Amino acid sequence: MTAKLAVFISGNGSSLQALIDAIRMKVLAARVEVVVSNREEAFGLVRAQKAGIPTRHHPLSPYSEAGRPRSEYDADLARIVGEYKPDWIVLAGWMHILSRAFLDRYPYRVVNLHPALPGQFPGAHAVEDAFAAYRRGEIKQTGCMVHLVPDEAVGAGPVIGTTEVPIYRTDTLETLRNRLQQAEQVLLVQSLQRLIVGDEEIEEEGEES
Ligand code: GAR
Repeated sequence: MTAKLAVFISGNGSSLQALIDAIRMKVLAARVEVVVSNREEAFGLVRAQKAGIPTRHHPLSPYSEAGRPRSEYDADLARIVGEYKPDWIVLAGWMHILSRAFLDRYPYRVVNLHPALPGQFPGAHAVEDAFAAYRRGEIKQTGCMVHLVPDEAVGAGPVIGTTEVPIYRTDTLETLRNRLQQAEQVLLVQSLQRLIVGDEEIEEEGEES
């Protein structure tokens, strides 16, 4: 079975690229059906187009400027994505928090990549926050995780995988960010493969009984 992915991005798309490469190398049994970005200038959209993947731009500003609630943006997002019938929604550097208007349409089907370990540094500035905590002597290492997003809580939900990442005395924010991103790319591919294999096993059990 080839799993159908919808990948949400907001920026550079290095984790999207890792998925594209893993699929090409046949280490991930999936296909990216669509890449959605809230930002038109996101470089990840160029990566998707180069790989022949359909892209959609879904900006928040027309909604906020018209005073429309976030739930309408999220409901429209779910409608756009629904056209591609994805098995999994992958948040690979998606910088919006999804509300129930989206999540209720995809229960336990939204996978988030986050550059911190469970229970540490939620939100959009996790790497900066970890680096500052290291400088204050509060932590010696950080890490990344892949987890499911069951509701609106940031960073919550069943954890699929984690990787610890060391912080060195000589690190700058940029060297730490690069090390984390390399770990994230491997972890994202492994975690998705685990979820996809899990689906196949459930299907096979259904066939046997
Ligand atoms: C990744 O490090 C991802 O974990 C992070 O944004 C980066 C996107 O990089 N996501 C979050 O912080 C979500 N809270 P990319 O666009 O190069 O894949």
